[in-house]
Amino acid sequence: MKGSNIKIEGVQKNFGDVQILKNIDLEIKQGEFFSLLGPSGCGKTTILKMIAGFLEPDQGAIYLGNEDITKLAPNKRNVNTIFQTYALFPHLNVYENIAFPLRLKKLSKEEIDIEVKKYLELVKLSEHINKFPHQLSGGQKQRIAIARALVNQPSVLLLDEPLSALDAKLRQHMLIELDNIHDKVGITFIFVTHDQAEALSVSDRIAVMNKGEVLQVGTPTEIYEKPVNEFVADFIGETNFLEGKVVEIKENYGIAQSDFFGDIKFELDKKVEIGNKVKITVRPEKIIVSKNPPTFVDDNDNVIKGKVEEVIYSGFQSKFFLEINGHKEKLFQAFKQHHNFFVEDSSAIHWKDEVYLSWDCTDGYLVEVV
Ligand SMILES: Nc1ncnc2c1ncn2[C@@H]1O[C@H](COP(=O)(O)OP(=O)(O)O)[C@@H](O)[C@H]1O
Ligand SMILES: [Mg+2]
Repeated sequence: MKGSNIKIEGVQKNFGDVQILKNIDLEIKQGEFFSLLGPSGCGKTTILKMIAGFLEPDQGAIYLGNEDITKLAPNKRNVNTIFQTYALFPHLNVYENIAFPLRLKKLSKEEIDIEVKKYLELVKLSEHINKFPHQLSGGQKQRIAIARALVNQPSVLLLDEPLSALDAKLRQHMLIELDNIHDKVGITFIFVTHDQAEALSVSDRIAVMNKGEVLQVGTPTEIYEKPVNEFVADFIGETNFLEGKVVEIKENYGIAQSDFFGDIKFELDKKVEIGNKVKITVRPEKIIVSKNPPTFVDDNDNVIKGKVEEVIYSGFQSKFFLEINGHKEKLFQAFKQHHNFFVEDSSAIHWKDEVYLSWDCTDGYLVEVV
């Protein structure tokens, strides 16, 4: 099996007079595990349906390899789709469910037998060959659906929120399984999800969408560490936003003055001028919280004082909600990871403690300049 690359060029779609997809350009590489990530209703399924051929764009084109497939019938495309619901045939056993597409293709009995067993082994369900769908768990049903899709040897597998019907633990397990299956078959996977943790954990690259637009395409690290705007920063993981006005531009960093937090140093990743209003994002895990003034401070570091309003302990880490300069309406978040061995910590931080928050200016990332 070989994966194909997909190219989506200037695709637009309206339903009635509502514009659902604005102007989508995407290039998905051969063999890539590519995710479309965005809130419900942003247009992810609509894109998948166009790649599968169930919907036609109003404008633009879709290519599979070098072939323009924009108007090609679904059964003429070498693409298969896995939906959230498993869509297995309830009256057929596992073997027959997977054999079904091969019987349509009129393969010989022997060929069918070889292929069905090969894909059952791939999804690790060989011992369930004679069971019926109602005798399988949700995760097992989903794996059968995957085997049935792969038996056609598609060059692209489309997965539309395939794990959303499973409970949290099983979802984790199935993500690892999906990743393994992807490694073994080597074809292109396009995975749709509204769950940022799912997308971050398995994708080679992610397209973050909102309201019918692609806002950013990048590797999980790029999307998390260098979000292009406030929406992406906020949608992916947890973060703090600081607003201020640029008052100084140094060689390595800029300084923004904020009524809220005082002077904040930030990385000069985007072009700014003195007087610009800026919004800076700082991830909670980048911030060091300490009871005593931090000792290893250099010119690049931010240090502000705060007060602990709330501590949420969750074993491996504590999450602090901190009040800065008496502003209770906008609490600052910081995480503290706990060590892998337990020590009674004399410097433990508690509710109402006065603390120092420090972070390097390169961890303050500009998301908006006006
Ligand atoms: N057949 C349709 N007719 C009218 N509106 C639709 C149709 N299909 C989807 N929509 C609308 O298009 C938008 C995007 O839908 P969809 O692609 O399913 O979003 P997502 O998969 O990201 O949740 C939604 O606002 C949805 O209500
Ligand atoms: Mg959808």
